[in-house]
Amino acid sequence: MSKKELILRKIKDGTIIDHIPAGQALNLLKLMGITGREGFTVALVMNVESKKLGKKDIIKVEGLELKPEDTDKVALIAPMATINVVRNYEVVEKRKAVPPKIVEGVLKCRNPNCITNKPNEPIKSRFRTICVNPPKLICEYCNYVMTYEDIVKQLISEK
Ligand code: CTP
Ligand code: ZN
Repeated sequence: MSKKELILRKIKDGTIIDHIPAGQALNLLKLMGITGREGFTVALVMNVESKKLGKKDIIKVEGLELKPEDTDKVALIAPMATINVVRNYEVVEKRKAVPPKIVEGVLKCRNPNCITNKPNEPIKSRFRTICVNPPKLICEYCNYVMTYEDIVKQLISEK
């Protein structure tokens, strides 16, 4: 039995997000809109040993299946995390949270003069991923570079 199984029991139905960068579990919960008041059973470990990452976080939410369309947002906070969907104790789906090559309409460019921020020109923001881990994005309109910190801050501040 591995160490993480000693810490967190298996769940019956729900979602496990594994291989989260150490220290990002709370940001990810916030992004997923989980406050604890929804009633889901949530288990979370932070800073446990991982062969792949050195240290990592894990989130388990019982009773909630993460929607496929949320994978890209998860990937921007937890690049290369594994999203496991569990039904009746079995992993029925395993998705890798890979940051998409193009991130459209999700983030606001931090350059106030960017054309995507002009009030009278409703242009959707559009960034190209120039680094996957940690994620770094470049605005296709003004070349502003959004750092991992910029991205995380913005994704959780909307919530
Ligand atoms: N898990 C769980 N409840 C279940 C089934 C799995 O909590 N009913 C958890 C496991 O503890 C593990 C993750 O979901 O943290 C993925 O399970 P599994 O694919 O069986 O483990 P690994 O093969 O170790 O996954 P990976 O190769 O993605 O690291
Ligand atoms: Zn821009």
